[in-house]
Amino acid sequence: MKGVILAGGNATRLRPLTWVTNKHLLPIYNKPMIYYPLEAMVKAGIKDVLIITGPNHSGAFINLLKSGKDFGLRLSYEIQEESGGIAQAINLAEDFADNGKILVILGDNIFAQSLKDDVENFKKERKGAVVFGKNMATRSKQYGVIEVKNGKVLSIEEKPEKPKSQIGQTGIYMYDERVFDFIRKQAPSKRGELEVTDLNNNYVKEGTMICKILTGWWVDAGTSFDELLKANILVAKEIKEESIK
Ligand code: G1P
Repeated sequence: MKGVILAGGNATRLRPLTWVTNKHLLPIYNKPMIYYPLEAMVKAGIKDVLIITGPNHSGAFINLLKSGKDFGLRLSYEIQEESGGIAQAINLAEDFADNGKILVILGDNIFAQSLKDDVENFKKERKGAVVFGKNMATRSKQYGVIEVKNGKVLSIEEKPEKPKSQIGQTGIYMYDERVFDFIRKQAPSKRGELEVTDLNNNYVKEGTMICKILTGWWVDAGTSFDELLKANILVAKEIKEESIK
């Protein structure tokens, strides 16, 4: 299975930090943000990773990560020319995916749990998709919200006014090879983007979407300055705890 990391977008919520720097190159404690999803790919046993970024910063990513050899990865790069949403970015991975399944991680999602077992299990599935969810302390309007009943995903709503559950949709997904057929048929949302939530709802409708709940900590570091700070603190804590072990 191959991996795709999305590292484009304008990151308007983190301005002025992101006026000239791509969000995914900002520091999270002792490393650039993009290192964390890359290391998650390594831990998951993925060897080939495509990084999708915007035209203004692609050079910086290549300067930083090069071939990926230092991570034990083979890296490829793709440019998303306009900010057309997460599903539009995923669509750029079609040739790279080469009719296989993919693990997609949004480049600002930083988390503790290894995805290795989930990847191994998903490889054996005939068809479908997996969305990783996170139990939030309160019902959140700032994420996609997943409604699950008896292990089955009933709906996913993008940043709803009235969240139906406390399960937030993280930026970690696994898709079968039909994902690109679904995206091709997708229409832009009200804000003019191809939304990942609309994409995921194709699988929900079909009854082939599985939701797995992340057990360790998870932060979407791109949402706000506070979340960015939280990611820094959690990573620093983890490193310090490991150094005392
Ligand atoms: C995106 C998705 C949202 C999801 C979040 C997780 O939102 O649209 O459903 O909960 O990623 O990181 P964004 O952070 O792009 O606003």
